[in-house]
Amino acid sequence: MGDKKILSIGLVCLDIINVVDKYPEEDTDTRCLSQRWQSGGNASNTCTVLSLLGDSDIAYGSLQYLSVCCTSFIVGDFARRGVDISGVAWQQWGETPCACCVVCPTNGPRTVVLSDTNLPDVSVEDFSKVDLSQYKWIHWEGRNADEQVKMIERAREYNSKQEEKNRITISVEIEKTREPLYQLFPLGDLVFVSKDVAQHFGFTSAAAALKGFYGRLRKGATLICAWAEKGADAMGPDGVIIHSDAFPPEKLVDTLGAGDTFNASVIYSLSNGSSLQDALTFGCQIAGKKCGVHGYDGIL
Ligand code: ADP
Ligand code: FRU
Repeated sequence: MGDKKILSIGLVCLDIINVVDKYPEEDTDTRCLSQRWQSGGNASNTCTVLSLLGDSDIAYGSLQYLSVCCTSFIVGDFARRGVDISGVAWQQWGETPCACCVVCPTNGPRTVVLSDTNLPDVSVEDFSKVDLSQYKWIHWEGRNADEQVKMIERAREYNSKQEEKNRITISVEIEKTREPLYQLFPLGDLVFVSKDVAQHFGFTSAAAALKGFYGRLRKGATLICAWAEKGADAMGPDGVIIHSDAFPPEKLVDTLGAGDTFNASVIYSLSNGSSLQDALTFGCQIAGKKCGVHGYDGIL
């Protein structure tokens, strides 16, 4: 069990990040303070953070087969971080998604415009080639939910034939307000639901969202809802709401990927045996550090 890995399935893209001192007004032509390329997408960010935390993990988004420059950049970044991409579903057509991001260190917020092009998402067929015995945990970012439901069914079927100690923990993230994603609620052992989704349903706090959504989960599952500078709340099968405050950095500089950092840190912590409260606190600590640095290096 010790050397089993964490598999992260979801978006892998290129982030082109413009750091500005003031959010640009429409129809103006301004200079940024700096610009950088960074591997992005929730699955990629999860892997980046897990590798920084010291876990062995695998990125498993779709990447284009052809070696266009941004794909080689992403592959190079994974190699540098020691992320194993042997499980990547290489696509023979389509373009690697790219996001133009604006980060404003004077107050921290990030604005993202993603071109989530025509690159096929990881399919159930791709997933059928994965040797599940390598993994202790699989995390799905909710995207092509109809296919993801079938992938999770396969993982559950695998689990049903395993002794408890060899079972894979299944987590899902429901971040975007898209109806098809809500079918993932009953499928995870651990479900991350975003503030955006919570607010879309009319909840005004993480605790209210947990109470409102918990009934959608499978028996015994845990629900977590992060709420930016208010920290995060969680509810397990005992129905008790637990909370961690946020750990704001001295200076807020870059919140891009704070949610992915939080999820990865919680997964890391729980997969290493921590309690839910400790995992929640650890998630907020590391995500808070992330908000105080550009990118991910320096989150520890
Ligand atoms: P995202 O919008 O990237 O999905 P969230 O708003 O869900 O991120 O925040 C995830 C976690 O990141 C929060 O639980 C919190 O711990 C940390 N975080 C996010 N924004 C801030 C902030 N402004 N100050 C301190 N911590 C923050
Ligand atoms: C952060 C992130 C970025 C990416 C965007 C896509 O959570 O994954 O890396 O550009 O979200 O929505």
